[in-house]
Order: sequence, then structure tokens, then C-alpha cells
Amino acid sequence: MKKLCLLGLAIGLASHSVWADTTPAPIENKDAFVSNLMKQMTLEEKIGQLRLISIGPEMPRELIRKEIAAGNIGGTFNSITRPENRPMQDAAMRSRLKIPMFFAYDVIHGHRTIFPIPLALASSWDMDAIGRSGRIAAKEAAADSLDITFAPMVDISRDPRWGRTSEGFGEDTYLVSRIAKVMVKAYQGETPSAADSIMASVKHFALYGAVEGGRDYNTVDMSPVKMYQDYLPPYRAAIDAGAGGVMVALNSINGIPATANMWLMQDLLRKEWGFKGLAVSDHGAIFELIKHGVARDGREAAKLAIKAGIDMSMNDTLYGKELPGLLKSGEIQQSDIDNAVREVLGAKYDMGLFKDPYLRIGKVEDDPADTYAENRLHRAEARDVARRSMVLLKNQNETLPLKKTEKIVLVGPLAKAPIDMMGSWAAAGKPEQSVTLLDGMTRALGDQTKLTYVRGANITEDKKVLDYLNFLNFDAPEVVNDPRSAQVMIDEAVKAAQQADVVVAAVGESRGMSHESSSRTDLNIPANQRDLIKALKATGKPLVLVLMNGRPLTILEEKDQADAILETWFTGTEGGNAIADVLFGDYNPSGKLPISIPRSVGQIPTYYNHLSIGRPFTPGKPGNYTSQYFDDTTGPLYPFGYGLSYTSFSLSDMALSSTTLNKSGKIDASVTVKNTGKRDGETVVQLYIQDVVGSMIRPLKELKNFQKVMLKAGEQKVIHFTIDEDDLKFYNAQLKYAAEPGKFNVQIGLDSEDVTQQSFELL
Ligand code: BGC
Repeated sequence: MKKLCLLGLAIGLASHSVWADTTPAPIENKDAFVSNLMKQMTLEEKIGQLRLISIGPEMPRELIRKEIAAGNIGGTFNSITRPENRPMQDAAMRSRLKIPMFFAYDVIHGHRTIFPIPLALASSWDMDAIGRSGRIAAKEAAADSLDITFAPMVDISRDPRWGRTSEGFGEDTYLVSRIAKVMVKAYQGETPSAADSIMASVKHFALYGAVEGGRDYNTVDMSPVKMYQDYLPPYRAAIDAGAGGVMVALNSINGIPATANMWLMQDLLRKEWGFKGLAVSDHGAIFELIKHGVARDGREAAKLAIKAGIDMSMNDTLYGKELPGLLKSGEIQQSDIDNAVREVLGAKYDMGLFKDPYLRIGKVEDDPADTYAENRLHRAEARDVARRSMVLLKNQNETLPLKKTEKIVLVGPLAKAPIDMMGSWAAAGKPEQSVTLLDGMTRALGDQTKLTYVRGANITEDKKVLDYLNFLNFDAPEVVNDPRSAQVMIDEAVKAAQQADVVVAAVGESRGMSHESSSRTDLNIPANQRDLIKALKATGKPLVLVLMNGRPLTILEEKDQADAILETWFTGTEGGNAIADVLFGDYNPSGKLPISIPRSVGQIPTYYNHLSIGRPFTPGKPGNYTSQYFDDTTGPLYPFGYGLSYTSFSLSDMALSSTTLNKSGKIDASVTVKNTGKRDGETVVQLYIQDVVGSMIRPLKELKNFQKVMLKAGEQKVIHFTIDEDDLKFYNAQLKYAAEPGKFNVQIGLDSEDVTQQSFELL
């Protein structure tokens, strides 16, 4: 009886579908519902569902609607408002089977309100703040009729030459896995079928962050142990958290492109991990199988991809063109197509679209009068998250916080760069709505303002770089240079600085420098900006560097030149206000690096948890025949986990509850953390474990837990971590995930290098 009522309700809700006047579909039973629908579909309609197209402003809408009504398109991306998407859904409702479309977008760090870039979010080490940013992004995107995002991007990146380092959460497997889970839950909420949720599709599966030399789209060659141990867990964490989709990477893995990789897509993803969801190719990736040199032509490319289990093809037409012929010739089976269709329909089901195709599109009368209206933004939340995401790298002589009564000179191209504040992949964010540093500081100072702004430098004077950065921007160039000469601008800045009590320089990269296809060989701040910094330093005035960049930069010289350095990454819509909060001490910085900052490009990769080696270099004890670079100090400029505060913290009385651990037991690791300074503040207490002797070489240490703690000035707290066998497991040479008995060092610190250590034995 209850079942019947549910069915009636489902049919009632599906007021825009024909389910009521064809075979009643048991909509409360996903498998039966999808099977029933598939029985009614023609081959063309099935193949149509596998097609995902990008909607550009220049595309003929009429034609697209015709194609949709003919059942030739399963979903779109890049069309992002209710009035744009409604006519397409109307077209789908005119198709023979009225299968709803879904609407996708790259909602990576905010939708209309732009939050800090993912690397910055990770710098907060604040799971609650990160989760809030994802939830708001989902709500804003859903309110704009979007059903699914191509996020989170959880590629581990240990090579900052790779421009997409900005889009991920850093170098560490444990931290990125924790965030992956939080982001999936944030996007999908209680269920991806809720009107204010969007489905998450984790990317880029797999290992995209390990492209050789940090050069985008390059090959990846990696041992299975390294994959399982370091690179795969974040994708797995996202899937275990319920991510409905996976986007497949553009790169190859050990000689086989991910898009055609049976081991990756079938053995690992579907069989070993049990993923039941939608696998989408990346942009044009099926066609690229020809370029990779594993497919002779489009026909073979389509065959390899469908066989591997790529359910939806993003922006190429090969499935439509080739699958019918491949089926006819027996090169692929009906089941290959059906498996893919089942996942597409299943995902639409999970998004709630069969119950209501207009779930997120809503009614015309409820459309926002102004899509860009201020009241659709979540400014307070963005400001709060942004200020938690900055890392104070240096603060000599308590240069920071600034006093509001001081005469401040603000310089640098990034102090007044609304578009750059948003960072790359800024979804539907509008630069006109982002708060620049100049705006933020001016507002913070109010009437008392003694702030002067001079530009001082362009982003770069390198014409080639400039042309590259502006190459893809169709509307207007993103990086516009002041036509004055570099020297004239520096002279002007120096003159202003001479009158100042303190100089704040906003320097770094434009957002396009840390983006897809923006790999760099040189991670310095561009030369003309470095000249500016040098000239400012020569004035003898206290110098604060506000860094804006999407990846670690090599700031060896600037570390000495500056009195204070605040790493802000790209902070989003409310960036200027949030940075001003930190600069003036209205917020005490609490971020920690989620990625090591290298001293030079030559030392990359500089990740903290590398494997033990036979001839380790011991800092302070130089000698030949140890693993080092003899022409520079070995090790990072700033280590993973590092970050200062306006107060100081100490750790003491580290203790383990036992010196032995049984396989089923637990050890409590505790430490007292004290705020030894004069301000309230937060810090991140980090727990690392080293497996001293194993059947395989183990890393020097691995992050296994952390807690972000708020302490009032003078306050202290005892922090507890529980360690059990799971924390000690690793993938051995046979890829068996197990802990091995023996000695383990437990290290607790406020960064990955400065730690106190105790040991125990696993019995
Ligand atoms: C990127 C993906 C993105 C897709 C759609 C591709 O170029 O690699 O990360 O989701 O475009 O915008």
C-alpha cells in the first residue's frame, strides 16, 4: 500500500514527464526504473545520452534545442543560468522519452561568491571552513540550475611548476584525502537529489598532478606502490564519501592514456573500489587517444574509450559517429553501450531529475531579477574563510600587524587587480564584485586613512609571457600593462615609500600564470616586480610583502628583503577585506602550508615525506657522498605545515600512553600546547608517524592527524590523538595493505620539521 502511494507521489511530481502516460515506472527503485527506461530506448537515444557538450556564447541555441529534442544530447556544461537552461530542459521534455538533461559546470572554489583557491583552502587546515565554502558553492550553483560539478580536484601535486597546483589541495595524501571527503559531502549535502545539492565528480582520475616535469598534459610513469600509497587515496576518499561522478584524466599512466586504461577504469575503479557512478572523459580526451598514438583513428579511439568504461564523452562527437558502426561490426557489444547509458541515467536519477527535471531550474516567476545581484552573494562567509586561508611566513620585529595610524604606502600590480583576486577557475564569479587589497585596506582605515597607492610595476614586462596570458581571453585582455616604463614606475613607488612609515607590496602572479596549461620553468616573482622589491628595500622602510600566487614561488631573495611576508594565494571575492583583516590584526593568521616552498626550481620536488635514503644529508654536517645539492642548502625554504601567528605557541610534555601497541589496541599521544604570546590565536598541532623499519623503504614521516586549536593569550590545553593499527598500514611490494610489527616514531609539531618525538613498538 505504502509503495503504491510512493509511486503515485513520484508520478505526480514528475509533472513534466510522460511516465504517467506510458508504462508506470517504479521510480522509487532506481535499478528497475533505469532498466525499464532503457528497454524503451533506441540505439540512437542511448548514444545521445553519452554526449556531453559545452555551450559557448557563440553556439546556435536553436540547433542545440533541436538536437536535445531529438534525443542526441545527455547533458551540457558551461551554460549556467536558469533562463539559459530552462529552454534546453523544455526541449528534452519534448523528446520522445522525455529524459531530462543535466547541467554541469566547474564549480571549483565557489560559484558566484568566489572562495579562496583550493590550495588556499587547504592552507586553512580547517575542515569546517572548507566544508562551508563547498556547501555555499553548491547552494549558489543549484540556485542557478546546475546539477553537477567537475570537482573536487584532488590531484596530489608535488611539482609547483604545474599550473594546476592552484586547483588542488597540496602535496600531502592524508590532508588532501580529508579535504576530498569534506568537499564531496559539502557539494552533495544529505543527498545529491536535494534541490540545493549538486553532484560531485572527483578529478582527474588519476595521477594528473604527477605529470613529468610539471608540464601540463605530460605523461605519468609511476610505480604501483607509489600510486597506491601516495596518489590514489584522495580519489578513493572522495568515492567512499559518495561522489556520484569521476572525471578521467587527460594524462597517460605507465604508457596507457587514462581514457583508454582498462586497469585504471575497470580493475581499479569499478572492481577493486566498487565505484558505481558516472565516468566522464575530460575535454576532448577520446579524440586525443589518436594524438597519444594508441588509436589509429576516431573509430578506434571511441572503441578504446567505451571498452575502458568512459560513460560520457566530453566535447567530442566520436561516440555519436562511431559507436553504431562498431556495434554493427561486432567490435563492441551492446553491453558496452548499455553499461555507459545505465550510469548516465543512474546519475540523473541520483540528481533527482527524473522526479523533477526542473528541480534546480525552478519556475520562471522565481528566477532572480538580476543574476549578479549583490544579495545572491555570501560575502561574510567568503571573508571568514579567506582570512583563515593565509599563511604568515615571516614577521620580523613584529612588523605586522600594521597600526591603523601609520602612514602606509601600498604598491604593486596585484593591489588593484579584481580579476586576479578570484584565482583561476572562478566559475561564475564577477571581477567587478571582488574586493581588491586597495579597496579592503581603504575600507579598514575609514576616515583615518593615510594610505597612498602607487602601482610600482606591471605583472610582467616580458612580452611573450604577456601575450600568452592574454591569448585565450576572448572578451578583453586579462593582463593590461601600464604603458609607462618599468623604471618610471619604480621611481614613483620609491618616492612614495620614502614618505611612508611602512610599505606594503602586493606582488606575485596573475591568476592566468597558475592555471590549466600554465606550467612554468621559473618560479620567481617576475623580474620587474623583483626590481621593485629591491628598490623598496633600499629605502630602508619596513617592507611587507603580500604574495598573491597560485603555487609556491621561489622567494629566496625576498625572504631576506622583506620584514614580513604574508602568503595569501588568491583569496576570492572578499579577498581584499580578508587580507586587510589580517594585515591590521583584526584576524590573527592561522594558516599552515599544505605544500613545501622550494628554495629553487632545481630542488623540485621538495615534498616533506620522501622515502629514506642510504646516504641521507644531515643539515649542518656537510660532507661528500651524501644526498644533497652541493651548490645550495638542501631542503625547502619553508616546510610543509609551516605558518606563523601574531602570537606564539609552545608544545611540551609530549607523552604516549604506552610504549607498545597490540594489533587491536590503541595508543593515546598527547601534548600540551600553550599560547605563550599576548594575543588570542589558533594553531595546527600536527601528528606525524615514521615507520622505522619495514619490508619496504618507508617515508621519513607521514602526516596522520592534526587538530586546529584556538587558545586565548596565556591559555594551554592538552591535545590528544589516538593511534591505532590503521594509522600504521601501508602498501607493501605485493600491494597488500598492512601494518608490520616493529618500531614507530611519533612526532608532534607545529610544522613538519620542528617536532618532538617519542617511540613505540607494534607487537
Ligand atoms: C579541464 C577539466 C575541466 C574541463 C571542463 C578541461 O580542460 O581539464 O578540469 O573540468 O575542462 O571545463
